[in-house]
Amino acid sequence: MSIDIKKVRNDFPELARLVHDKPLIYLDNAASTLKCLPVINALQQHYTNEAANIHRGVHFLSEQGTMKYEATREKTQSFINAKERHEIIFTKGTTESINVIAQCYALEFLNEGDEILVSTMEHHSNIVPWQMAALKKGAIVREIPINDDGEIILDEYKKLLSEKTKIVSTCHISNSLGTINPIKEMITLAHDAGAIFVVDAAQSIAHESIDVQSLDCDFLVYSSHKMFGPTGFGVLYGKEDLLNKMPPYQGGGDMIDVVSFDGTTYNDLPHKFEAGTPHIAGGIALKFAYEYIESLGFENIIAHEKMLLDYATSQIKEIEGVKVIGEAKKKASVLSFVMDGGHPHDIGTILDRQGIAIRTGHHCTQPLMKRMNVTATARASFSVYNTLEDIDLFIQGLKKTKEFL
Ligand code: ALA
Repeated sequence: MSIDIKKVRNDFPELARLVHDKPLIYLDNAASTLKCLPVINALQQHYTNEAANIHRGVHFLSEQGTMKYEATREKTQSFINAKERHEIIFTKGTTESINVIAQCYALEFLNEGDEILVSTMEHHSNIVPWQMAALKKGAIVREIPINDDGEIILDEYKKLLSEKTKIVSTCHISNSLGTINPIKEMITLAHDAGAIFVVDAAQSIAHESIDVQSLDCDFLVYSSHKMFGPTGFGVLYGKEDLLNKMPPYQGGGDMIDVVSFDGTTYNDLPHKFEAGTPHIAGGIALKFAYEYIESLGFENIIAHEKMLLDYATSQIKEIEGVKVIGEAKKKASVLSFVMDGGHPHDIGTILDRQGIAIRTGHHCTQPLMKRMNVTATARASFSVYNTLEDIDLFIQGLKKTKEFL
């Protein structure tokens, strides 16, 4: 089976709109994907007919909302093959998930001189929370270097691992370069050194099948909005024993067992980490994003996106003065580039006038930009609903942009 691209495109209503009077060519999927109809319908259904708080009421709407919200937890468990349902914590997104681990694990269990390893290609959200925790504990954040193609240098990683290493945290797929990191191997190496491993799956969750038990990662985090789901919602998977020994992140409703002025006891997992009323509609709608991805099948998604990336890469390399940034042997759905004589922002703006949406800038990866000797790149990123025609129009647009500049 392959992707029925016409049908898939009909499932994403935003693709039918015009931008600057031109049909939208959406190539900013690494920043956020468009939303599919089942997700949009679920959001509308909740706010139109079913809005009520969850986990608290005995009335029909509250119980129905609780059931639907918790059904997403079960779906999440099966989607990433977590052992236990309560190992799935809902958060605002990848950034909050990493901050939970930094605040409740690193801050709690690291000591002076301990080390946290992150790679050069990390998003700021996988650097800064560790630096904040490290600063308070006298711990050190070390950089796992990458080569000129944008691949982690495994030999250097092995050299950095020592008894001081307590946490390793890297992205599965780089948001700026598209590099697919060898996380399974890296996780085994970290465990051999006695460290835990955090996988930032923000960029991979909609592009690769993930099995946390087979990976044996200790934590894995991602956002719903990069997988056709709502913004403001995300997942923190953690191994039960680690989550159990961590203190809560925020205090408030739902995360408690008994509150008194003599002292408060906390709720069990997962609620211990879920203070306050959550993004209920977002949580309910995420289930439909998982189901949508499953209906397409990862094999088909991977094959389709690989075809788009290979075609776009070969076409862009024909344009004189354009340089691809990030040429890892294993890459997914991201094409970063620079063009002689054109600042990425100008390229992005000129393409935008043609209805073509790409991202430009440092992509929240300033250390990576420095390593690749650029201040910024232009980045096209692909998803299941993109077509070869989209790529042709993007390449034509780039050629026009080059003439213009
Ligand atoms: N992290 C997102 C990106 O890569 C926002 O664009």
